[in-house]
Amino acid sequence: MVKVYAVLCLLGLSIAVSNALNNGLVRTPPMGWLAWERYRCNIDCEKEPDNCINEDLFLRMANLLNDNGYAAAGYDRVNIDDCWPLHNRDEHGRLVADPVRFPHGIKYLADKLHKMNMKLGIYGDYGTKTCGGYPGMMGYIRKDSETFASWGIDMLKLDGCYADVKLMNEGYAEVTRALNQTGREIVYSCSWPDYQRIAGMNVSYENVAKHCNLWRNYIDIQDSWDSVTSIIDFYGEPKNYRDFGVVNGPGQWNDPDMLILGDYSLSKDQSIAQFVFWCYFSAPLFMSNDLAKIQDWTKEILLNADLIAINQDPLGRMAQRVSASGGREIWRKELADGSVGVILWNRSTYGTPVLMTVTFAEVGLSAGRTYCIRDLVTHVNSHATTSFSTYVNPAGGVIALKVSQAC
Ligand code: GLA
Repeated sequence: MVKVYAVLCLLGLSIAVSNALNNGLVRTPPMGWLAWERYRCNIDCEKEPDNCINEDLFLRMANLLNDNGYAAAGYDRVNIDDCWPLHNRDEHGRLVADPVRFPHGIKYLADKLHKMNMKLGIYGDYGTKTCGGYPGMMGYIRKDSETFASWGIDMLKLDGCYADVKLMNEGYAEVTRALNQTGREIVYSCSWPDYQRIAGMNVSYENVAKHCNLWRNYIDIQDSWDSVTSIIDFYGEPKNYRDFGVVNGPGQWNDPDMLILGDYSLSKDQSIAQFVFWCYFSAPLFMSNDLAKIQDWTKEILLNADLIAINQDPLGRMAQRVSASGGREIWRKELADGSVGVILWNRSTYGTPVLMTVTFAEVGLSAGRTYCIRDLVTHVNSHATTSFSTYVNPAGGVIALKVSQAC
């Protein structure tokens, strides 16, 4: 009897393993560039050759990532989003990249990127069509996974337009199995939880984390500070932290959507704020901007090694809001070396810098000690016992700190 039970357990275990995503990838949050927020579905390359979705865009961005120090800092992925294929599959049912905009096909792009030590991501949709109306994976899960693998794709973002949300638990998991079966290491990014949230369903993030490497849980980012703050607010809700904050970790990341630094809306302080929050969330860092036109100060933020180290911290804990009152917020993030990351945020529009104080006790550090406080934007170290005070600019200013036992 014991033997039979043991065999059953073993069988159960092996089924569980092969059903789950077993790619062992992205042990720290993935970093790179993604087309959607900045370039949308602009396919008019005749009229706007420098502003449309085509092969040249992805090659240009790959070269800029490589030549301007981004790839060396970790931004080594270039991801295609919607609107890349033809509206019709070929006679074998395979997806075809638009031959005018992608004259050499997707494999050519992947090969080029691999030669540069970079990776290529692509976009699909679990439903019958993508959000932009291109062919979806419904009915073609096996075939499209094999196609992506044969092209040398390294990451798949799978959207959820034109699909029944109730089928997604099983359907997204079917894609997990299909990707596993290709034998290629493909990072799997799922939009599944956000679609279920919008439909009012309860999302089991434990289950999502079993099947996906990263996943969207909230609406699309837009080029505005309001959009950035609405995402931060969503991540700050205690219930949401309990639901999905706790599952964040190596290989399984909540995705608050793209970085919009370098686009049109954010002030310098707000740009720092978005980057700081995304780093402290241990979020995937995908910029969506025109790297050819980026200001020096934006580039400096994106390449801030102290902040990137917080993002890439091996523990992968998501920052948690500790307090919020009068437009002033304090957040904390546990780090692998026992230090604590602290954000002081002044989102008030009452136009003068305010003095904010964080006590070490409120961010979970024991009292009666002298700590090293590193400001991760100015890179200046100081010491403090019991608490730390500093001025924070209004309208989105942040101070990003790392509080450690010693400098
Ligand atoms: C959805 C996704 C976006 C983007 C578009 C493309 O809205 O959430 O990130 O991929 O579809 O159509």
